[in-house]
Amino acid sequence: ILSTVTERVDAELMDAAGEDLKVVANMAVGYDNIDLDAAGERDVVVTNTPEVLNETTADTAFMLLLAAARRLGEAERLLRSGGWDAWGPMQLTGPDVWGKKLGVLGFGRIGQAVARRARGFDMEVLYHDQYRNEEAEQELGARYLDLNELLGTCDFISVHTPLSDETHHLIGATELDRMKPETVLVNTSRGPVVDEASLADALAEDRIFAAGLDVYEEEPEVHPRLLELENVVLAPHIGSASVETRDKMAALAAENIVAVLSGEEPKTPVNG
Ligand code: GLV
Repeated sequence: ILSTVTERVDAELMDAAGEDLKVVANMAVGYDNIDLDAAGERDVVVTNTPEVLNETTADTAFMLLLAAARRLGEAERLLRSGGWDAWGPMQLTGPDVWGKKLGVLGFGRIGQAVARRARGFDMEVLYHDQYRNEEAEQELGARYLDLNELLGTCDFISVHTPLSDETHHLIGATELDRMKPETVLVNTSRGPVVDEASLADALAEDRIFAAGLDVYEEEPEVHPRLLELENVVLAPHIGSASVETRDKMAALAAENIVAVLSGEEPKTPVNG
């Protein structure tokens, strides 16, 4: 099976595929759509596509960060609707990005690629993760903070954790309340890491400044209240959507399938 994030690959699907099923190759780095226990019980190898999408996904996070801060979606809607009648001194102003504090939540390969971009914008990089990574801290000039400190300190927070039981609704009402009113939240990881209803409340009440989202709790559905808000930039899960990167992801998924069917080790297995 060559799967994408859209397919839920569970025991029922694997049983329907039958006993010849050898490999599920997900064309994605995240594999929360696949039941690894069910795969293990059936001796099915599961693979993903890490590394090849790090830089492109980091670009997307930065694109959303800039667009949300500088109100690009709202500005474009104004222009296209014919509502732009003159240049205004404080029209469509948002906070600066450069020189501000960026909090990277989940300091893995993509989070670190975002941190590298932030340095080019003279940002102070702070991070939180389950584990400290002192080598990456040194290389990127990043500082570790506990989650509550990170939430209360940063001007920008970009989420890069995988989805698991531990990270489900990692950002909920309590965490949003800890953020400053200037905060811009960006999520390019998985929708359920952020409680969408609580985020819609916080944005509607201007408890945070803006958000940039690429992922949603019930894709392709988007929380209807988010669709009505000006201060959220909404992208349809295009984090890795460059021509080059999608080609590499497809090739890697195919190589993983060929390897397993040839009795070899796949390049990027996720279940041993
Ligand atoms: C896409 O969402 C991925 O995990 O690669």
